[in-house]
Amino acid sequence: MVTLAPWSAADFWLLERCNSPEMTAYLGGPETAEQLVSRHARYVENAFPGQMCVIITAEGNAAGSIGYWEHAEAGETVWETGWAILPEQQGKGIATAAIAEVAKAAAAEGTHRSLHAYPGVDNAASNALCRKAGFTFQAAREFEYPKGHWMRCNDWSLEL
Ligand SMILES: CC(C)(COP(=O)(O)OP(=O)(O)OC[C@H]1O[C@@H](n2cnc3c(N)ncnc32)[C@H](O)[C@@H]1OP(=O)(O)O)[C@@H](O)C(=O)NCCC(=O)NCCS
Repeated sequence: MVTLAPWSAADFWLLERCNSPEMTAYLGGPETAEQLVSRHARYVENAFPGQMCVIITAEGNAAGSIGYWEHAEAGETVWETGWAILPEQQGKGIATAAIAEVAKAAAAEGTHRSLHAYPGVDNAASNALCRKAGFTFQAAREFEYPKGHWMRCNDWSLEL
């Protein structure tokens, strides 16, 4: 139903669209122009284990972003994932399908046993999405995202 395309130099507009107050309500609010530019550069450069991706629908439209990267969790390194679906593409099962694809990609790396997501405790949509996508609730904890911004998040884990 969806495919994942590695982040490219042409995808900056997607970060801009996902930087609205509504889309970042549970992520600490919109980032500055400088923060967005450096986020885009990190994604394009891809000098980290994992990959940020654009979610492409069956019709060939960019519907949002998803990715996976490493995160240290209680002394163990795990894969972490995070997502954003453009408002006009929400409610069509796209995030559920994209999570299945990102889990396959993370599993194919063969390095870590689980994929975690950390939605804010008040983010009803993303918490419901984690449950639907097969993640198991672990615990609520303080979590830093983005850097310098601490929020209370639920730790969800999916065995790969
Ligand atoms: C959360 C978000 C990713 C959902 O994407 P989506 O493609 O619309 O999700 P899906 O259509 O795959 O929905 C899957 C499940 O999520 C839950 N869900 C989705 N939107 C919801 C909402 N607004 N309220 C409550 N539950 C919701 C439902 O359980 C749904 O299953 P159902 O359709 O069988 O009821 C999207 O709303 C979004 O991008 N929000 C802003 C950014 C954000 O919060 N990112 C997450 C940071 S962790």
